Amino acid sequence: MNKDFSTGLLLSASLALSACGKAPEPATTSAVATETSAVATDPAAEAKAAKVPQIEAKNWPLQPSPIARQPAVEEKIKALLAQMSPEQKVGQLIQADIASVTPQQVREYYLGSVLNGGNSAPGRDNRVGPKAWLELADAFWQASTDTSDGRPYIPVMWGTDAVHGHSNVKGAIIFPHNIGLGAMREPKLLRKIGQVTAIEMQVTGLDWTFAPTIAVVRDDRWGRTYESYGEDPALVASYAPEILQGIQGEPGSADFLRGNHMLATVKHFLGDGGTIDGKDQGDNQHSEANLRDLHGLPYYSAIKAGARVVMASYNSWYGEKMHGFQPMLSDVLVGRMGFDGFVVGDWNGHGQVKGCTPTDCANALNAGLDMFMAPDSWQKLYDNTLAQVKDGRITQARLDEAVSRVLRIKAEMGLFEQVQPSKRPLAGKFDLLGSAEHRAVAREAARKSLVLLKNNQKLLPIKAGSKVLLAGDGADHIGKQSGGWTLSWQGAGNKNSDFPNGESIYAGLQGALAAGGGSVELSENGRFTSKPDLAVVVFGEEPYAEFVGDRAHLAFDDSRALQVLTELKAQGIPTVSVFLSGRPLWVNPELNQSDAFVAAF
Ligand code: BGC
Ligand code: BGC
Repeated sequence: MNKDFSTGLLLSASLALSACGKAPEPATTSAVATETSAVATDPAAEAKAAKVPQIEAKNWPLQPSPIARQPAVEEKIKALLAQMSPEQKVGQLIQADIASVTPQQVREYYLGSVLNGGNSAPGRDNRVGPKAWLELADAFWQASTDTSDGRPYIPVMWGTDAVHGHSNVKGAIIFPHNIGLGAMREPKLLRKIGQVTAIEMQVTGLDWTFAPTIAVVRDDRWGRTYESYGEDPALVASYAPEILQGIQGEPGSADFLRGNHMLATVKHFLGDGGTIDGKDQGDNQHSEANLRDLHGLPYYSAIKAGARVVMASYNSWYGEKMHGFQPMLSDVLVGRMGFDGFVVGDWNGHGQVKGCTPTDCANALNAGLDMFMAPDSWQKLYDNTLAQVKDGRITQARLDEAVSRVLRIKAEMGLFEQVQPSKRPLAGKFDLLGSAEHRAVAREAARKSLVLLKNNQKLLPIKAGSKVLLAGDGADHIGKQSGGWTLSWQGAGNKNSDFPNGESIYAGLQGALAAGGGSVELSENGRFTSKPDLAVVVFGEEPYAEFVGDRAHLAFDDSRALQVLTELKAQGIPTVSVFLSGRPLWVNPELNQSDAFVAAF
């Protein structure tokens, strides 16, 4: 930790500061807002009253697909389509959650994919070891590939939220969340992070990650701020190709989506970071140009770099939920951005489309969604979708197109030639999870993500031989260091023992200080037995995810650390604050009571 501090703290403090400010509203949209605010309070009604702007596909730059269709793959798709029943086709378009589906059901319904949601894990145990993941991957794969009834051979694929490392699996490496990676301003390191994540996922037999998030966050009250690399579209656009190619490899190379690589997803399309008041799953009411130039920019760069799956967003644009919005899902994404992969939905996101429920939504498929994420709703959705195919509410052409898109990616991944998950080259090499090499990458990222906001009298780096008091509820708490989407959806209740390959700040500091003849006394409330040379106080936000983390304002409002800092200052002890958070927050009182301050995300 000491070593990390000394090399990592000399980062531009302005990064975090600049991210603190709320982005100004473009003139066009604030005009709309004023015009309508007197009319109604429901955003959808307001938008209507204010003459809803339209998406005109021709306003969006035309980008060719960077990946040409391969004749052999197209032949294969054609042959499969000719053999498939409507039941088998509909099945390919549905993804169920492992907590709500058995391997037997995957076989019975021909499901194209399974996922583990943030709270789902093999045996419903979030802390189960990697072996159980691999065994379950085998079970799903075997069920889907048993062709004894004469069905065509189409392996299922398993997707997960490996959003900061393979973060659902105990023992896997945990990287800083995207907001911290954005602060480090080093796109190249994202490639290594992607490579490590892809390797660790394959150790457990998985095929696909719902990452990276390439949202451009514009209001830090949003609970998903930390999933965004930052507020600057150019920064996000520069990160997207690196992380994507780390996970997937480079289009055109022999190991694209294969070998040590696998399938990624860019999400959430489009405008998730620009909702009113930063409300998760809310309404984006900015101009078409804003949607294109701000939120859309990273998608152009990601698709050019080989993105093959795009996840539709929960948010709406002037009341139109993305999951059912053809102008964006089809006319722009496929028609203008050069996207030739498939569009997956978000967790029952289709159920929010007008006229839809989680179990019934022809509109989404007709608008351009290719695979429903229907965690617990899959079975009834399957029945309804099949009925809609049979009565023509979903056309044969649209059905075949969506199925082709899914099969094309499975073919590009080599899934049709793959052996069962546990027999693949990296499978079962559990030593790779959190290996020394992988830890070195995570350590570098953590170090570089730190932002030094204040350093009076060059208090940092801590001098070798110092006697340090370590206080604050984050001092010895890997769970708090790691945030949401860690072992569970909200990342709540994680203990140090849940991270066999992790190190708390206390453990790191202890090791580093001992090496230089110094010492550390751990005391959460800051009371010490012998007077220290300086105190480090570690505090911040509790872990959260998605809408649970939405806030009404940006002032940090837990005063416990402030009290500790104030007491220490009163005793003449120099203070260093380490602030763990998923976003920049207003911490002026704490800053003023600190001689040095590190935003550690
Ligand atoms: C989130 C997605 C995530 C999915 C699966 C949704 O609630 O919005 O980002 O990939 O759940 O866990
Ligand atoms: C799941 C998450 C999902 C969320 C959506 C949770 O129960 O575990 O993966 O994103 O629900 O609300």
